Amino acid sequence: MKKWQCKVCGYVHAGDAPPAECPVCGALASEFEAVVETGKSQWHKVGSVAELSKTELRQLEIGGKKIALSFRDGRFGAIAGNCLHVGGPLGCGCVRDDYVVCPWHGWMFHRITGEARSGIPAAVPRYELKQEAGDLYIDLASATPAKHAPHPKHPLTREIVRAPGPVRVVGISTTVMEKNYQRESTSELLLQSALEHAAARGAETKLIRLNELKFRACEGYYSKSAEACTWPCTITQMDAADELTQVYEACVFWADVVLIATPIRWGSASSLYYKMAERMNCIQNQIHLANRILIQNKVASFIITGGQDNVQAVAGQMLTFFGLLGFVFPPFPFVGHSRGWTAEDMENNVAAVKSSDELYTLVRELAERSVALAGNLIAAN
Ligand code: FES
Repeated sequence: MKKWQCKVCGYVHAGDAPPAECPVCGALASEFEAVVETGKSQWHKVGSVAELSKTELRQLEIGGKKIALSFRDGRFGAIAGNCLHVGGPLGCGCVRDDYVVCPWHGWMFHRITGEARSGIPAAVPRYELKQEAGDLYIDLASATPAKHAPHPKHPLTREIVRAPGPVRVVGISTTVMEKNYQRESTSELLLQSALEHAAARGAETKLIRLNELKFRACEGYYSKSAEACTWPCTITQMDAADELTQVYEACVFWADVVLIATPIRWGSASSLYYKMAERMNCIQNQIHLANRILIQNKVASFIITGGQDNVQAVAGQMLTFFGLLGFVFPPFPFVGHSRGWTAEDMENNVAAVKSSDELYTLVRELAERSVALAGNLIAAN
């Protein structure tokens, strides 16, 4: 039977044709190449030993194969240059205790044997090397098979299917508060009112307070390489304790309407909003990285409150970001409140909002428009 190797992660598939998608890293069939098994050595000259021994780790491409070549303590090592995780260039990482550390997310493979860090039953292929007349040679036919550790798929990789039922609305409160000294938040008060109204109209509702979740800030994998940003988020995959999973579950799987509430801080949405938005980049990046649209036929709308100004600019940023995630908006997609640039009497702000029938009416109407649009989308799809 023919064999096909994923050029991204090294996975080998046996069959008449490559698989539609690599079961390990998700690469498409076009990323597979046929494995030529000659049984004979294929020695290729790498270069001069004197020159190659000057660099501890380098990424090379020889005969179409990516190789991580290392030199340490007088000994060369050659292992596959594609990380088993999602194909990071191992030779562009660093060497720590004789392990090559992947530059994308830190997986480690022994620089000589290719074995993963102790305790993990995985390995990247390793290659035979020899030296002749001052030159280093590599036998490309000597590659050992890649070994993949059994790795249950993360629940967020499951198929996105809307479960039957009424329109579901998640409210996400992004206000930042000291948990032991809670105070009233105008954005959250209005959000709660909107959710109550949606529930009264027959929707299922849920409130997520970001300041009750423990989650890490985005670590900028996309800035290392586009493919280093993954779905599910790499942090979510690596850190089971990271609680932003609740937001991913709600936005990608559960909710038909996402209603975000934020205060204005120095003319911008709250810092927790941005911390969440940066972690949601992985949803947006899937569109151009894997042609995978995770958000479809879902509605987003916003509640923005500030003692002072800049409602339109905050709304503009939120509309742009959530639009690029795939959300659609109802007519008049946000409710904003600000008492103006000169309002320094913040101690009166909560009372001003609480006594405003107009604001409460506006957020209820926003909830109603959002639920109605979601209902139409559900019916149409
Ligand atoms: S690609 Fe190497 S650790 Fe993720």
